[in-house]
This record gives sequence, C-alpha cells and structure tokens, in this order.
Amino acid sequence: MSLITIMPSGKTIEVAEGTTLLAAILAAEVNLTHNCEGNVLCGTCHIFVQEGRKVCQRSLVKKREARFHCRRSSKSRLACQAKVLGTRISRSSY
Ligand code: FES
Repeated sequence: MSLITIMPSGKTIEVAEGTTLLAAILAAEVNLTHNCEGNVLCGTCHIFVQEGRKVCQRSLVKKREARFHCRRSSKSRLACQAKVLGTRISRSSY
C-alpha cells in the first residue's frame, strides 16, 4: 500500500500497488476531469506528480500518453496512465 496526498485539497489516501492515480484521486472524492474515462484520448486528466515520481516512473510514459505533452516536464503525467508501483508517498496536484 502507498500513501497519496492530493493537492490542493491535502487529502491523503492509502492505495494498493497498481492503482492508477486517476482511480486514487476519484476514490478520495476529488473531482478530476477525465473525459475519455481513461482511454488516453483526451488529456483532461493531466496532473503534476510533485513528490515520489520514482514510484510512478516505473509505469513508463507510453507513446499515447506522450502525445499529450507529458514529456515537457518530468512531473507531468496523465492520471489515468500513471500507476502507483511502490510504497513511497506521492503528492499529486492538478
Ligand atoms: S482520462 Fe482521457 S486521457 Fe486520461
């Protein structure tokens, strides 16, 4: 299990390994637009992973995700594609 803190709300939740950040954010009852329901078609779930990026880096940015400018910043990810793959604390903002 990993702890995720969602900014700016400051809500912290515990999520299982393999959970997408979108699923974690929605489970925390934080509203994050996700127009294509996680099918990498819209880019509306874009977030910045402020801390614990290494935990998410193992879920690599694939071509479809990179299409949404996720290579401009190492902090930039699509929440529907970034998975929690470790036990460190991550802090996500949008
Ligand atoms: S929900 Fe559309 S790209 Fe993530």
